[in-house]
Amino acid sequence: MFIYQDFCLKPYTTFGIAVEASRYVAITSLKDLQELYAGDELSKKLVMVLGGGSNILFTQRYEGLILACQILGKEILKETDDEILIKVGGGEHWPSFVNEMVKKGYGGIENLSLIPGKVGAAPIQNIGAYGVEVKEVFESLEAFELKTGKIKKFTKIECEFGYRSSIFKTTDKGKYFITHVTFRLSKKPKLNLSYAPLKEAFAGRNENEISIKEVSEAVIQIRNSKLPDPDQLKNAGSFFKNPVVVEKTAQKLKESYPNIPVYPQSDGKVKLAAGWLIEQCGWKGKKVGAAGVHDKQALVIVNYGDASGEEILALANDIRKSVQKQFGIKLEPEVNII
Ligand code: EPU
Repeated sequence: MFIYQDFCLKPYTTFGIAVEASRYVAITSLKDLQELYAGDELSKKLVMVLGGGSNILFTQRYEGLILACQILGKEILKETDDEILIKVGGGEHWPSFVNEMVKKGYGGIENLSLIPGKVGAAPIQNIGAYGVEVKEVFESLEAFELKTGKIKKFTKIECEFGYRSSIFKTTDKGKYFITHVTFRLSKKPKLNLSYAPLKEAFAGRNENEISIKEVSEAVIQIRNSKLPDPDQLKNAGSFFKNPVVVEKTAQKLKESYPNIPVYPQSDGKVKLAAGWLIEQCGWKGKKVGAAGVHDKQALVIVNYGDASGEEILALANDIRKSVQKQFGIKLEPEVNII
């Protein structure tokens, strides 16, 4: 284990911002964490855990120690005729893991194909796409508490999953390093084709004859048609969360904007499409210096070259202001801003 000084983070976040961390270390095992803890590196000092860097925007140098999760490995803990329980290292690449499971016929995460990032980060914001959230296949996770050096197991209930949220993004933010996540995957998968573009892709097909591989391929195709590939165009996916409002607010908006997409939630509230709101404000495809709003999905802010974190943030703030002004809706970032 080697602690780098003044480490450039540019290749380690999908926004590709050239900032430095004062110290950086790759964690490949629990032992590495225990050694750092014993050396008093974790309990008192400023520390941050970095996964795939696909949901983070650095706007300044980080004056602390970055722990990059590189714990690998997959272990089937239990297998029956119907399902498997699989424990996965937090540093495994999420899209490769999904791809491998899909190939083996283990279902439940096919709709989450191609989401960038690492396995350990998936529960933090309860990643979701095309009608499925990771909480649906989540069994438990193991995490190292940075301040105490203790290893703690979290059940699904303890994680308090919500829309793009968990305890690790709220009350316990920054407290833990997630070392392993266990998933319950199905050998007799039930497909979720509820999302309109997926429904369209399989229109006229008998659901029993559709494989998870086909669903995964359709998801990949939809993602590629709307979302920029961070390897080619620097971005962190949706920059904002979709706002959730009370029914009355949604009704009022619908009167003024009959085409506004609305998604009623089980708790009576209504989710709005931030991408639609941003597009209506004229931002889609706009460029401000090296920062810009993606031309196919207005919820995605892109770095066309050497934008600084401050430039990206300034653009995000201008977008927020105009959505607030036109619709009276406050957008909250989905991306972690440092
Ligand atoms: N829309 C527009 N203009 C745009 C973008 C979207 O009018 O520029 C409209 C669409 O036509 C559609 C609605 O807004 O009626 C919703 O758009 P879309 O289906 O593309 O999904 P989204 O709500 O913008 C969410 C997730 C994505 C996820 C997709 C598919 C959030 C914050 N984002 O986006 O997740 O891939 O649904 O399930 O919930 C991410 O979290 O980084 C991410 C990419």
